[in-house]
Amino acid sequence: MNWWKEAVFYQVYPRSFKDSNGDGIGDLKGVTEKIDYLSWLGVDVVWISPFFKSPMNDFGYDISDYKDVDPIFGNMSDFDDLVEEAHKKKLRVIIDQVYNHTSDQHPWFVESRNSRDNPKADWYIWKDAKKDGVPPNNWVSLFSGTKAESMWEWDENRKQYYLHLFGKEQPDLNWQNPDVKHEIFESMRFWLEHGVDGFRFDAAAHYHKDPKFRDASTGVQIKESLFKSVRDVYYWDRFSGRPETLLAVEEIRDFLDSYPGEKVSVGEISADMGLCLYLLFTLPGRFSMAFNIDFMEKLSLDAEKVRQLIKNVDTSFGDRAWPSYVLGNHDNFRIINRLTEGMEANHDTKKKIAKLAATLLLTLRGTPFIYYGEEIGMENTHIPYDKIADPWGKALWPKTGRDVCRTPMQWNDGEYAGFSDVESWLPVNSNKSCVNVENEMKDRNSVLNYYKILLKIRKNNLPLRRGNLEFWDAPEGVLFYTRTFFSMRTVILINFTSSEKEVNIKEKGKVLTGSGKNTGEDVNGKVKLLPFESIIIEIL
Ligand code: NOJ
Ligand code: CA
Repeated sequence: MNWWKEAVFYQVYPRSFKDSNGDGIGDLKGVTEKIDYLSWLGVDVVWISPFFKSPMNDFGYDISDYKDVDPIFGNMSDFDDLVEEAHKKKLRVIIDQVYNHTSDQHPWFVESRNSRDNPKADWYIWKDAKKDGVPPNNWVSLFSGTKAESMWEWDENRKQYYLHLFGKEQPDLNWQNPDVKHEIFESMRFWLEHGVDGFRFDAAAHYHKDPKFRDASTGVQIKESLFKSVRDVYYWDRFSGRPETLLAVEEIRDFLDSYPGEKVSVGEISADMGLCLYLLFTLPGRFSMAFNIDFMEKLSLDAEKVRQLIKNVDTSFGDRAWPSYVLGNHDNFRIINRLTEGMEANHDTKKKIAKLAATLLLTLRGTPFIYYGEEIGMENTHIPYDKIADPWGKALWPKTGRDVCRTPMQWNDGEYAGFSDVESWLPVNSNKSCVNVENEMKDRNSVLNYYKILLKIRKNNLPLRRGNLEFWDAPEGVLFYTRTFFSMRTVILINFTSSEKEVNIKEKGKVLTGSGKNTGEDVNGKVKLLPFESIIIEIL
């Protein structure tokens, strides 16, 4: 069994986790300070979002030096300390690699844009204008705001356009160029030599584009709301999942496999092309896993839809590849907000729903990813207009951008939630007085303690880590599934509704945990579920 199939990953957004030097911005030393906490919680892998040199236009997803730490986050020796501390506590560390694009401040791009014939002239994707000066094709930037913006930016110096799938400060690298590829592999080598256990590959479906740069055959609709799909498959096909990209991913895998310790690779694959693309990217010899954005975006409180969603993942992956499950990340609204949208939910209901989501995440057949703060039930934070930091958020305004899910981790009820001694780069959520680590550690019924218990149960329960997944008939609004490993069986019951339900599991068992039940309680046949309650039962 590959270690990463049984591991639980935890994403740290380093700007927002812990500020160690009082400048209001989280940093690497801050993460190191909190390694004990992560080990107490019981996760296995820390994934740290970008901390590399960057002008921070896209908060680190615009890199200007792949092989150095941005001074805001510390220095290389801080990173080495972090890895050492984590490894001491048996926690693995993975980091982001952003190879689809660099920052426009990267010395490679500075040189590339200098002339049409310098040594790096071909390191990015440059094209002449079409007649009348129009961009080379009709592709629309993934970071478009309230109106469509081209993926091409005009450069006055070269009198040419360059391609940028995301912001115009993030020019796309030319993966066709062998020197570019060489540098990318050198950067991976650098971090592997600093002890990382693997990588998350940003925007990995897009490395190669349509070699002819043809127009997309269908149009783009402007977003009705953030993160809604606006392009169909014929559109995405122009710059996603190209055969050359799959070959590049195979080369990455071979390279990682030449290191001892089985390095893990997690591909960020665009959701809009669905499960097929996830599968394509994670077949043997490619990425270990694809980050399951599809599940994250489609999860709702409609039990039947959720059942279908999970069945689709589980059946299509089967024995072919290994799925992951995700509730949230730094690009999406907090899970509690998404699940309670349009509902009148008080604090107690939100807690129940956070626990319901946690139960799903940690009992499905696949590797779970926890986004920092999810384990205490953090919610979206309102960001006043003058505090908007996310570049895409600015373009989307008055619609809401991504800052809302990137606010400081709530460690205690102090003025800046124990994240910093000074005003933080994004405002702290006003619910910090009750939603915080210190408080929740003391409260047996907190979301945090529920996560901790679930993580422990998962660690000790073979069916939950490795077993097959099967759904059974249940009353409307309830999910009833089992995880079976040889003769061992674990039952999971989740009530997605605000009314009481009863399920007959037709067997005898013992409650391992539940969001309302007492651990150790015996069960025989009929099980009552309170509103939004989840129960995990070991069959005897
Ligand atoms: C995906 C990342 O998750 C997101 O935060 C970033 O803006 C884009 N890729 C561009 O790198
Ligand atoms: Ca700091």
